[in-house]
Amino acid sequence: MCGIIGVLSDHEAAPILVEALKRLEYRGYDSAGIATINGGALDRRRAVGKLVNLSDLLVHEPLAGKAGIGHTRWATHGAPTIGNAHPHRAGRVAVVHNGIIENFRELRAELAALGVPFTTETDTETVALLTEYHMSQGLGPVEAVFKTLDRLEGAFALAFLFDGEDDLIVAARKGSPLAIGHGDGEMYVGSDAIALAPLTDRITYLEEGDRAVVTRKGVEIRDARGALANRAMRQINIDNTRVDKAGHKHFMAKEIAEQPQVIGEAVNHYLPAGGDAVVLPGEGIDFSRVERLTMVACGTAFYACLTAKYWFEQLARLPVEVDIASEFRYREPPVSPGTLALFVSQSGETADTLAALRYCQDKAAQIVSVVNVPESSIARESDLALPIHAGVEIGVASTKAFTCQLSVLLMLALKAAADRGTISPEERADRIADLRGLPQAINAALDRNDEIRAAAQRLSEARDVLFLGRGAMYPLALEGALKLKEISYIHAEGYASGELKHGPIALIDKQMPVVVMAPHDDLFDKTVSNMQEVMARKGKVVLISDEAGIAEAQEGTWATVRMPAIHPLLAPILYAVPAQLLAYHAAVAKGTDVDQPRNLAKSVTVE
Ligand code: G6P
Repeated sequence: MCGIIGVLSDHEAAPILVEALKRLEYRGYDSAGIATINGGALDRRRAVGKLVNLSDLLVHEPLAGKAGIGHTRWATHGAPTIGNAHPHRAGRVAVVHNGIIENFRELRAELAALGVPFTTETDTETVALLTEYHMSQGLGPVEAVFKTLDRLEGAFALAFLFDGEDDLIVAARKGSPLAIGHGDGEMYVGSDAIALAPLTDRITYLEEGDRAVVTRKGVEIRDARGALANRAMRQINIDNTRVDKAGHKHFMAKEIAEQPQVIGEAVNHYLPAGGDAVVLPGEGIDFSRVERLTMVACGTAFYACLTAKYWFEQLARLPVEVDIASEFRYREPPVSPGTLALFVSQSGETADTLAALRYCQDKAAQIVSVVNVPESSIARESDLALPIHAGVEIGVASTKAFTCQLSVLLMLALKAAADRGTISPEERADRIADLRGLPQAINAALDRNDEIRAAAQRLSEARDVLFLGRGAMYPLALEGALKLKEISYIHAEGYASGELKHGPIALIDKQMPVVVMAPHDDLFDKTVSNMQEVMARKGKVVLISDEAGIAEAQEGTWATVRMPAIHPLLAPILYAVPAQLLAYHAAVAKGTDVDQPRNLAKSVTVE
């Protein structure tokens, strides 16, 4: 969602700001803007749509100055118009904001009563107006911002710039991430390390409630109570923030292709070479003491949790509840003291997942997270954070993070089974060998690209598509449908095969493609029966199975995709590849914006 950048530089700020905004594009946005201080005077430029529109505007109406702030906006309050785009300005104050000011109506009413006029529909304008009001009452910029912050409810990361102040940015964080970058005689503020990486590799992450006064000399950070806070400066590995397509047409294609390598890294990390046990960092987890597992996540990460429920229950006989974070956080479910609360998140910043984690904090026996960004809020607020080692994921549609999440969750389920004595040493050794062979199997699945593209081209003409799966392939049917709808805009639904007769079969006619994900396992015959019911009604079946499955059931199908044979436990990880490629090729065939689909955000930092 919204991205923030701020620079106090020795060089012209505008090009630096626009470059940094490009690196924040992946978060999702629909307008952008920058503000600078030029000869002491504050000025700004804003444009709707892609960043190229802002760059074009800057060619015709350049913005000089060496201090500036910039923003990519994902609209929440008010349409994506120039007027609603950030930076917002009130008198001497300009501000950029990520998050939602929940009490903005109340603040607006107060300001209206003081005769302060509004020009936008946004919650953010209130922040600029309130700060300007405090300055008009005689406060300096820093004090005025602090007084404003005391009034704000909701989630925010904010960066302020002031008319007449060429060496000052005030920044604050509550709920939304924000980092300070340290240069040589230059300083930066950014939503994440990816935005700051080309500028500096020295970063300080602000903590909840922190307020930062940034000048070219450095930063002074105060905590929520106003006390001086000493936050560590970290050296980040620039390679971990590299953002390029490595010769691929889209980030999504690159990230799909990277899966053998990153899954291999995840597996090697938790299953060190030569060992035969899953090794967790720190104090680890003793699953023999866990009574139940509560898993909470959003989007694709939620489907990873749903898949893992099958594994934890089957392998470790551990009762599992899985919930969508936005439902969990307000339902106030009882969390018994023997509960292990497990949160799965690529970004580690998803607002609802973070809120769900905080809800569990004084209730669950242990808070564990499975995350891709080790410095994220969710990782930092967990008792134990388990990185998935997927590397930076830029495509909005999650791919490699999903399969790495699954791989880590499967290893956790194997550890749970070992701790609880529900798996024989032989079976455990076999499954560990299977996990070590996973990168090779994923490579073989990637080799089916042409076959999958051919099926996808046919799917791209459909208006609606159904995905069916049974057992642990059911969550993958949900994920396959999500992938297709988010990047190709084809309406798609995932169903448990057994549910077909309870409604969705009414939709089947000769226009309706049905993707059936069915490895040749114990449930294969049952899924094939459901597939026959579809074909009997002229539905067009795309069967994704292995050699044995296709040989047995391909008659009458519309298209087939042949997967390598694999143990059923690992099939959801392997079959994720054709699900991803189907969506990818269908989107390419339709000519949609694969990496930045409309209306979607990569990192959902507001609820
Ligand atoms: C957004 C992204 C999805 C992601 C979901 C959860 O919807 O577009 O790709 O699965 O958020 O994000 P998280 O970072 O918590 O995994």
